[in-house]
Amino acid sequence: MLLTNVIYFVACNNGVNSEAKSMDTTRSTNDSGYTKPGITEKAFGNYDGQEVKEFTITNASGSQVSILNYGGTVTKLLVPDRNGTMGDVVLGFDSFEGYLQKNDPYFGSLVGRYANRIANAKFTLDGKTYTLAGNNNGNSLHGGNKGFDKVIWTAEKLGDNSLKLTYQSKDGEEGYPGNLTAQVVYTLDSDNSFKLDYTATTDKATPVNLTSHCYFNLSAGRDSTILNHQLQIDADRYTPVDEKLIPTGKIANVRGTPMDFTSPKLIGRDISSVKGGFDHNWVLNKQGNALEKVVSLYDSTSGRLMEVFTTEPGMQFYSGNFLDGSLQYTKNGQKYIKHGALCLEAQHFPDSPNEPSFPNVILKPGETYRHTTVYKFSTK
Ligand code: GAL
Repeated sequence: MLLTNVIYFVACNNGVNSEAKSMDTTRSTNDSGYTKPGITEKAFGNYDGQEVKEFTITNASGSQVSILNYGGTVTKLLVPDRNGTMGDVVLGFDSFEGYLQKNDPYFGSLVGRYANRIANAKFTLDGKTYTLAGNNNGNSLHGGNKGFDKVIWTAEKLGDNSLKLTYQSKDGEEGYPGNLTAQVVYTLDSDNSFKLDYTATTDKATPVNLTSHCYFNLSAGRDSTILNHQLQIDADRYTPVDEKLIPTGKIANVRGTPMDFTSPKLIGRDISSVKGGFDHNWVLNKQGNALEKVVSLYDSTSGRLMEVFTTEPGMQFYSGNFLDGSLQYTKNGQKYIKHGALCLEAQHFPDSPNEPSFPNVILKPGETYRHTTVYKFSTK
């Protein structure tokens, strides 16, 4: 066994898109490339008088994911390209200041209590109308002003490859009813599957929709956009939206439209025919809540393939339309430009609390919300 402080310096094609990664973990690696799995932690900052920690899970093949107790934020996800070179496939910030900057676009966040939009920041439940923060054109987005992405979660290491985060959301917090206990277990398996298992319970009926808001660019800095990534979504239908991105309530067929990703397609091929770019919920073909493969994303420059499995009925594919290169803090000096990365947010449909025809999002006392999503990385 050789004990190494691993530092990767991979060719940079220009100053902006550097794939140089410096990793601060100490690893045990042997000649066959086996790395001792484990979890390390380090101080990352302070928030609301509490310490922000970054936990890094390393698996047996040397892949790594780093997660903050602040917002359950995924700050790094290092997986190999077709030559075995590790690269960071998610956008994020080098330091905690980045996560506090105005207009942080939810990089790597855990989103809740209700991911995506609720129209007019209002919903009615059991005859009572609840008012939320209208933080997005008068609609509520991603849980409100201080959603689950902006709170400190309690972290617990489970074995050598899982991290459990727990958050107690109070009755009335951000306008939502009921004390909600939310838990998310992050696992990095030896086959490079990054899994999120979500559960939640409540003491009053409440809408719940939890998701992960990682921004992926599988080239790990080689390509400044995701327009040349090839995407396949196993969905024949999607939920059309109005100009404020609220579903109209209709469910439309993707056939013959730019929304058709039933066969692998370059994201850049039809994007200019969709006003603003892709930012829609696809109605997955899967039936019921079994864990099934629903998405494949492939980057030919690196050979990285990401397959997404979920128990959820919907997938928000967001093509990074609001990124504009203006963020003051980034990672490794990169510029995060329009379409610089994409999100694949497994979830229930947007505005479901106001759309009785959409699958139920109301959690009642005595029930348990359960959601599993897996992002599995390989190469070809
Ligand atoms: C996405 C959403 C986008 C945008 C983004 C955050 O989940 O679909 O419309 O709000 O989050 O910038």
